[in-house]
Amino acid sequence: MQSRYHQVYADWKRDPDAFWAEAAREVDWFTPFEKVFEAQSGVYGRWFPGATCNTCYNAVDRHVAGGRADQLALIHDSAIAGTVRKFTYAELKREVVALASVLKNQGIGKGDRVIIYMPMIAEAAFAMLACARLGAIHSVVFGGFAARELATRIEDAQPKAVISASCGIEPSRTIAYKPLLDEAIELASHKPERCIVVQREQLRCDLIEGRDIDYADAVAREKAAGANVDCVAVASTDPLYVLYTSGTTGQPKGVIRDNGGHMVMLKWSMDNEFGIKPGEVFWAASDVGWVVGHSYIVYAPLLHGCTTVMFEGKPVGTPDAGTFWRVIEQHGVAALFTAPTAFRAIKGQDPKGEFIPKYDLSKFRTLFLAGERADPETIKWAEQRLGVPVIDHWWQTETGAPITQNPVGLGMLPVKYGSPGVPMPGYDIRILNDAGHEVPNGTLGNVVLKLPLPPACLPTLWNADKRFHQAYLDEFPGFYKTADAGILDDDGYLFVMARTDDIINVAGHRLSTGAMEEVLAEHPDVAECAVIGIADELKGQSPLGLVVLNAGVARDRSAIEKEAIALVRDRIGPVAAFKTVVTIKRLPKTRSGKVLRGTMQKIADKEEWKMPATIDDPAILDEITEALKARGIGV
Ligand code: COA
Ligand code: AMP
Repeated sequence: MQSRYHQVYADWKRDPDAFWAEAAREVDWFTPFEKVFEAQSGVYGRWFPGATCNTCYNAVDRHVAGGRADQLALIHDSAIAGTVRKFTYAELKREVVALASVLKNQGIGKGDRVIIYMPMIAEAAFAMLACARLGAIHSVVFGGFAARELATRIEDAQPKAVISASCGIEPSRTIAYKPLLDEAIELASHKPERCIVVQREQLRCDLIEGRDIDYADAVAREKAAGANVDCVAVASTDPLYVLYTSGTTGQPKGVIRDNGGHMVMLKWSMDNEFGIKPGEVFWAASDVGWVVGHSYIVYAPLLHGCTTVMFEGKPVGTPDAGTFWRVIEQHGVAALFTAPTAFRAIKGQDPKGEFIPKYDLSKFRTLFLAGERADPETIKWAEQRLGVPVIDHWWQTETGAPITQNPVGLGMLPVKYGSPGVPMPGYDIRILNDAGHEVPNGTLGNVVLKLPLPPACLPTLWNADKRFHQAYLDEFPGFYKTADAGILDDDGYLFVMARTDDIINVAGHRLSTGAMEEVLAEHPDVAECAVIGIADELKGQSPLGLVVLNAGVARDRSAIEKEAIALVRDRIGPVAAFKTVVTIKRLPKTRSGKVLRGTMQKIADKEEWKMPATIDDPAILDEITEALKARGIGV
């Protein structure tokens, strides 16, 4: 079958308003929009102004009313705890309404912020939807972040309440969340009035009287009382959530997602981009703390009337490299979405794919990979072993949905290994040189998106319009800077090569090396430091810290290095996967004092490198090469 992609993309380009107006018919609006797009509003324009709607209504209530009440909405499969919990749309509604009632009784309503700091349990999804129901703005914080990161987010979002759990379960340990939450609240100057805590049997926690509420008790009371909470009408342009993501400093950026545009784009994407029909089972093996979890564990599958799988576990070790295939068989999964690193982990433990034929994967049609560059070897391995198309697609927390993809729903285009596909409707991708001029096809440059950004993209940053301008819009006027470098080929395929800022990608997790440097600089013996991302076979990249000690420090270097590692784990969290620090004599710099991180990274990765013309003292690079070699790096 010939792909409809080129026709559909041309339709969008010819008349974007008509295109999105048509897509918007798939959403139930309380009051219709006055315009599809208003260029004069907001920073670069706003989608569907004048409309009122509710995301929870579209994700839950309308399916209950529309014949899906008894269809499974959510399957929580914990490979770690060995449990499976299933909720139909009617049951999901009961859970969400009861929790919304608990929140409402605590005075939470439209526009209030609620932080959700939870492991991968069903209650995390209920919490997101309960906030959406009330028009409250949720902000989910990934469980692998430390107390200080949580505190930064509490400080910025100023939540009225936090919804959390007593613990998370990692294969190696049970993580007590409550002490981290208490510490974060202690650190932050803003104090949330309430904490609603799910007590997990694996590790219960103490509740603080007068502040903390037991989630299960409170929800049970509302259910028993037959509480009902209607979906609150919010403006299409009101924020649904704020999701913090790494920026170039220790201060994360609060990406705002609106209600209307987000629903339109996600609903459109399920059919046309992911090729999924309502009623099918969709599984995004990510975490609700990341954008993939927001969009494709919770909102998109539910908006589309699918059954979504929430998985608590790892691709390997819970209990083995066959877990993914077990979940696909057991729940009849049609499409799996995960990060390439998960497949590298599986391939590492089961190189021949011997677990795969042990399971019935007959319903499984497509594998989607995103979050980091998908190496062709991993894609080919998955294609050959699974016998299904493997779709690499490229997007960012900021966009909320794919920017480029091989649009399997519109019909597959030829696969080009190493490319995450072609631009999706809404995206006009250009490659610019540093001076802001477009470069010919085949030339590496800055990947930018012509404004306006399509529905679902961030309209701005939370309380930070100026930072939004500075970070994304100022450098290339008229365009959004993705901070990725890439190439467009003659067929319109994009190749994403590297970040142009100091963000690194570790196991599909987006991390700021700048934030890690800020932490290392806090160590009393550290005079100067740099953190770079070096190649890692499993995780794509891993952070490497290089530190210069204060003059006269006579302490054991390895003790200092261990302390520095512990400091980053303590301040940022285990998710930073920060495991290596090397002490060096001096940092290589340009004559104007800029640290030559790129050159150090090439040395560590054993890539070819040229002596930078502006280097202050070339001998420093030899010192670094030696110091790294002594630690087995770059040899
Ligand atoms: N809460 C607390 N700690 C967490 C956590 C959470 N939700 N998630 C991860 N961590 C911890 C891990 O236990 C680990 O701690 P350790 O240093 O004590 O071992 C650390 O954070 C690093 O985690 P991770 O990078 O995930 O490494 P891992 O060795 O545990 O697992 C993979 C490696 C490849 C199996 C894993 O990264 C994975 O499954 N990735 C899938 C991709 C994915 O989910 N991407 C998200 C975007 S789509
Ligand atoms: P995040 O905001 O966490 O989704 O991270 C976004 C960044 O991850 C992008 O800017 C890219 O650098 C990288 N990324 C995501 N998906 C891909 C992909 N398919 N190929 C290459 N890089 C990707």
